[in-house]
Amino acid sequence: MPNWPAVLDTPGLYVHLPWCVRKCPYCDFNSHPVTSRSGQGADFDEYLQALLRDWQAQLEELVAQMQAPVFASVFFGGGTPSLAPPRLFATLLELLPLAPDAEITMEANPGTIEYHSLADYLQAGINRLSIGAQSFSNTHLQQLGRIHHARDTATAFARARAAGFSNINLDLMWGLPQQSVAEALADLEAAVQLQPEHVSWYQLTIEPKTEFARRVPLLPVEDTLEQIERHGLQLLEAAGFQRYEVSAFARTGRECRHNLNYWRFGDYVGLGAGAHGKYTLQAEGKLRIMRTEKAHQPRVYTRQPAVTRLTPVPRENLAAEFMLNALRIKEGVAQDLLAPRTGLAWRELQPLWQPLARRGLVRSDRCATTPLGYRYLNSVVSEFV
Ligand SMILES: C[S@@+](CC[C@H](N)C(=O)[O-])C[C@H]1O[C@@H](n2cnc3c(N)ncnc32)[C@H](O)[C@@H]1O
Ligand code: SF4
Repeated sequence: MPNWPAVLDTPGLYVHLPWCVRKCPYCDFNSHPVTSRSGQGADFDEYLQALLRDWQAQLEELVAQMQAPVFASVFFGGGTPSLAPPRLFATLLELLPLAPDAEITMEANPGTIEYHSLADYLQAGINRLSIGAQSFSNTHLQQLGRIHHARDTATAFARARAAGFSNINLDLMWGLPQQSVAEALADLEAAVQLQPEHVSWYQLTIEPKTEFARRVPLLPVEDTLEQIERHGLQLLEAAGFQRYEVSAFARTGRECRHNLNYWRFGDYVGLGAGAHGKYTLQAEGKLRIMRTEKAHQPRVYTRQPAVTRLTPVPRENLAAEFMLNALRIKEGVAQDLLAPRTGLAWRELQPLWQPLARRGLVRSDRCATTPLGYRYLNSVVSEFV
């Protein structure tokens, strides 16, 4: 059982950087090729000004209402944040109220590692890198439309270590077009040989409106997928990576605090094009959970960065949203987290929880699945929808 730091109860901050060198055919993130009209050619000075105005507006309207507006984690995601110059991160991080030991992650694409100095990112305050390796097979990297080769990932990793990064995640995907069990395991083997602190191992999904949805590649059959998953989990475990969430594996104490805060249904501020946030506000003794959203298109966002769309989460959706997140954590969460996060009492959920407990799918001492329930997570969660 990981030792959750108490600091997790303070909010996180997500900052979106919406540009990439080019769009990968499987990706449905809010990312725009740098040369496209919607990408505007990426003017990072203009974007930084927009982020500062966005922060100022949310600080006055919403952050001021948070109980402890000090960030335990900051996550610069994308898009490809490693396209942006280190001074953008330095300027923001100087301004933000951060916990002394805040985890500050930046996503990096191995194909952009030479654009800026990694030491300058560290100097700017980034203390965790998340490198988008995806695969170590050049054939698969090409099919995935990636801008880098396998050796670029190894080079990026070595440079990050040399620059002083001591907390590095590698993103990998599995279930790639025509991937065999041996190929998927070879990818994991190559990743663990680099000795990262964390591995995110995502099954490739075909997302609507992507290039892969228009021309679906030949994916491995169900039996192959099942074998990749079973042997892959064993390989990661044997290499010292504990699975703590569906796709997240860490060495002890290196769990991603920022993502844990999402899964524990904690609050977070979202800055940048298309960024989402979540605020728990108190009104007349009642909790109100609000979601925030910013304009998606970079050129719309930079024109009106102070505009934040607010949507309350209806009370009838709260149990499902809480479970959708909390049960992704392998150890789940304490039952008494439900009330401060949602305003619902644990006993209100008993008519749904008890039948699942009787079927051996969830635990009775904790808001968590059993190992059996974890295998059928989607159907457990669907009981609350
Ligand atoms: C926003 S991307 C991050 C990093 C950076 N842009 C890159 O690609 O190198 C986050 C991660 O989500 C994963 N991902 C993106 N699209 C996916 C899909 N359709 N199925 C599974 N994983 C996906 C990839 O592993 C990717 O590294
Ligand atoms: S580089 Fe990352 S964010 Fe950009 S398109 Fe590819 S997967 Fe998406």
